[in-house]
Amino acid sequence: MEDLKDIFSPAPAEVPADKYEAGSVHWQSPSNIAIIKYWGKRPVQLPQNPSLSLTLTNARTETRLSYEPKDSDGMELEFFFDGEPAPRFRERVLHYLESVKTYLPFLERFRLTVQTVNSFPHSAGIASSASAMSALALCLCSMEDKLFGSLSDDSLFDKKASFLARLGSGSAARSIFGYAALWGQASRVPESSDLFAVSLEDRLHPVFKNFHDDILIVSADEKPVSSRAGHQLMDTNPYAPARYARAKQRLDKLLDALSAGDVARFGQIAEQEALELHGLMMTSEPPYLLMQPETVAIIERLRRYREREDIPVFFTLDAGPNVHLLYPEEVIADVRGFLQEELAPYLLNNTFIPDFVGEGPEEV
Ligand code: DP6
Repeated sequence: MEDLKDIFSPAPAEVPADKYEAGSVHWQSPSNIAIIKYWGKRPVQLPQNPSLSLTLTNARTETRLSYEPKDSDGMELEFFFDGEPAPRFRERVLHYLESVKTYLPFLERFRLTVQTVNSFPHSAGIASSASAMSALALCLCSMEDKLFGSLSDDSLFDKKASFLARLGSGSAARSIFGYAALWGQASRVPESSDLFAVSLEDRLHPVFKNFHDDILIVSADEKPVSSRAGHQLMDTNPYAPARYARAKQRLDKLLDALSAGDVARFGQIAEQEALELHGLMMTSEPPYLLMQPETVAIIERLRRYREREDIPVFFTLDAGPNVHLLYPEEVIADVRGFLQEELAPYLLNNTFIPDFVGEGPEEV
């Protein structure tokens, strides 16, 4: 494993007892939208191919972590979601904390309280693991830094936060960075790694720095196959080797388009990736579908509109039926007009979440 040494925090035995003080830390972290998709993994939460995403702004999670020193052994956690105790999430977070305690050995010396809220309605059916796990990982790093001053270097802080976020949910590794991030080793980006994401801000043409992503809510029903199960089905998917190779090739093309400001090329790659992701679902054993009739109708309408009006608006999909409309700031009025006139009938309760590329997480 590469340069992991600096990710480990000081062992409790090395830290004087008076360093263990009560405190609290507080972060907001956004979701992200993958253009090159992460789909398929190997232990422990390592990607089968590099993925690249734009960091969003409005779809975000706000998390506060409070901690008090204790004498008893073991992990102790209270968890609140939207102000209410949430036993299912608590179990998941507890399991996660156990899994990362090698990197944060001081955690068991504290009674922990996590309070978290999402900016988007739970009923919107949009994935929240990227924003939730990145917000939590950032809180854990801030806690470490407040106690021991061991993450005062900003780039080390981000690296550890991304590393810890990845262990919670792969896509969360990318939410640590504003604008755009790459997770997974890619020959064109020497600092890239399978262990954490890296920022692509400096490789991004300004047109992408305020790019829009309107998230069109088609259904909020629970998915018949979770992302977790979907990743697992890639292990037996006969097309998996070809998929991983194609993702790598496309990544190189996307990096060129992102630095050149080539919106048309960017859009073409985004759409290829979205349909390929869903193609992989359809060729899994057993096969499954996450698109809804409305998903397909929106895609058809969008393609016709783009050809007719010559407006640069493109789609991508996550592991679900909702459609992300991607477009540059300069065409917002046209796209919103089209959305209201032609796409509204396909949306659940007329819901869409207007989002755009942003600066990334913020300490509150
Ligand atoms: C389709 O990051 O949710 O959104 O690592 O199991 O938590 P886990 O999976 P997750 O998978 C995201 C899949 C995707 C593509 C992407 O965001 O790259």
